[in-house]
Formats: sequence, structure tokens, C-alpha cells
Amino acid sequence: MNADQFKQAAAQAALDYCLAKADTDTVIGIGTGSTVNHFIRLLAPHRGRIGATVASSEASAALLREHHIPVADLNAVDEVAIYVDGADEINRELEMIKGGGGALTREKILAAVAREFVCIADQSKWVDHLGRFPLPVEVIPMARSHVGRQLRTLGANPVWRQGTITDNGNYLIDAHDLYPIAPARALEERLNNIPGVVCNGLFALRPADLLLLARDSGVESIRPRPH
Ligand code: A5P
Repeated sequence: MNADQFKQAAAQAALDYCLAKADTDTVIGIGTGSTVNHFIRLLAPHRGRIGATVASSEASAALLREHHIPVADLNAVDEVAIYVDGADEINRELEMIKGGGGALTREKILAAVAREFVCIADQSKWVDHLGRFPLPVEVIPMARSHVGRQLRTLGANPVWRQGTITDNGNYLIDAHDLYPIAPARALEERLNNIPGVVCNGLFALRPADLLLLARDSGVESIRPRPH
């Protein structure tokens, strides 16, 4: 199987998981990225079996609407039962780096709201330690240089993703050279405390509850190892 087929296999496993739990009132949170795009396409023929979706990006919302899947405003729903999203890296505690696609802030909001967070990934995302993938940080535009300097004091090599504006109208900085990130929760909190940082791509304070990892041997269901 190629990388895309692995992503599709993980997405199919997530769809089976969601449909087994869903009824026609269930709201499903939808992440962003190529793995989630498979999930959206697979969900389309079954859209009548759920209540609605809430999307973590304009791109995912557009794809959902293209497939006639109802998209609700997060403020208009009482709860999000399951949030399905990919990751750029994920470890044994199901802590993640996310935001390669730039949607980290809305993704983190949906992860916080959802009763259950299901991560879908191909085996290339599975790591012992986080940090080889550059850590995305969303910043208020006027704070870009300040946040960059603060990231340097933490040992990172910050690179502005020039030309990219997030769905929230902000800039992105990718923090390189942080490997190995441990403990991830401490760094996540520290980055959150820098004025001008809107969100960072560490998902450690709220890790996934379940990882559906597509490997050569099939799709494995992995629960987080306790700290
Ligand atoms: C989007 O901002 C990211 O958090 C994605 O979840 C992550 O980049 C995974 O994307 P792929 O499914 O395309 O690998």
C-alpha cells in the first residue's frame, strides 16, 4: 500500500467507529488534512446517519458542503461527540504535533470540546519522541518578531511561514530544532504564556483518546500509555 492508501484505511476505520456510536443527533468534529479528506469522502454516503459536523477549517467545511454533509457552527451545537483528525506526529501517550496544514487553533478548540478525540494516521506519523516535525505556532501578526525571539530563547529555530494567513487572520511560525520535546505538556504551557501566541501545535494537555494507526499489518487501535 502507498501512503495515501494507509491514510484511507485509517479513515475507514474511524468511519466504522463513528457510525457504530452515532445516531441522527450526533455531531462529529472534523479535522483538517489529507487523511481527514478521506474521512469526509467516505462519510458522504452515510451522512443521513449523523446529525451534523463541525469543521476545524474553511477547507474542510468546503469539502463537507461539496459532499452535502451538514456543517454546523460550533456555538450552535450542545456537544461534539467525537472529533476525528490527523496528526503530523504522535507518540505513545497520544500526544501530538499538529498544524502542518495551519488549522491548529480551531483543531485545538474542537479537541477541547469533544467528548472523544480519535486520531487517524498512517505509520509514518508514529514517533518515540515529538519534535522532528517543526512545531507550528499561530501568532498575532504584530507579535511575530517578539514570538520569534522568545522561541529562540527556548532553543528553537523559528521560521515564519511567509505568505500564509490562517483562517483566523494570523501568521504562522514553524519552530524547528526542538527535538526531543519532553515533557510536551510543559512546553505547550510555556508557549501558551508568550504574549502574542494564539495557539501552538502541541496537543499534549489534551491528547487523543484513541489512535487508529494504519500499518502494514492493518489498522491498529491504540489507547494512550499513562504518564
Ligand atoms: C492540520 O492543520 C494538521 O493538524 C493535520 O491534522 C496534519 O497536518 C495531518 O495532515 P495529513 O493528514 O495531511 O497528514
